[in-house]
Amino acid sequence: MPIISPSLLACDFLRLKEVCDMLNRSEADWFHLDVMDGRFVPNISFGMPVIEKIRNATHKPCDVHLMIEEPGRYAADFKAAGADHLTVHYEACPHLHRNLMQIKNLGMKAGVAINPHTPVQLLQDVLEYTDVVILMSVDPGFGGQPFIPHSLNKIRLLRERIDQMKLDTIIEVDGGVTLQNGPAILEAGAHALVAGTIIFNADQPEEMIRQFKHL
Ligand code: DX5
Ligand code: ZN
Repeated sequence: MPIISPSLLACDFLRLKEVCDMLNRSEADWFHLDVMDGRFVPNISFGMPVIEKIRNATHKPCDVHLMIEEPGRYAADFKAAGADHLTVHYEACPHLHRNLMQIKNLGMKAGVAINPHTPVQLLQDVLEYTDVVILMSVDPGFGGQPFIPHSLNKIRLLRERIDQMKLDTIIEVDGGVTLQNGPAILEAGAHALVAGTIIFNADQPEEMIRQFKHL
């Protein structure tokens, strides 16, 4: 069964407690928390104080996706706020290996996210230090965008590489994931699906999560 990581970016922030209760009841595995700085991406979302509140409202892992420049400056603060997984963008990290080691040394799972234009081959030399790869299937910054079909080729290539290297790195696909394209994404070799708008705009989000879990 796939790992389901609902993105709270699309939820009603005024009802954060109810959202957390619903996700706790649901078959969701992780809480996907999208942090944006208005520099790396053209949007600003939320930061540590909100993550801290969410942390206190769930025991499920907080899967924090940093779409920020210089993430190393804040890694310890995100750990303190309660992040279990901390994912930085390849494109934001000239010293990616150092960032990954820092995250691991702080006791979190280390993730690397890549934008749609970044070839998966560029991960070759950090793959063995990476617990999760977030493969962006939209340009990061906003929820509700359509899935970029070429992402499927990238998932296949990365899957091959990870298998060849006998690693257990998780491939998490983020952006435009639906019940329709979900099966192809999983078949291409992803283990984890992020979904935002489609879950929180649904009449019954919990049921939508169940359907993703049983794809
Ligand atoms: C985009 C974020 C995604 C986004 C996914 O920059 O990283 O996690 O919230 O939302 P949907 O499922 O609406 O594409
Ligand atoms: Zn994300």
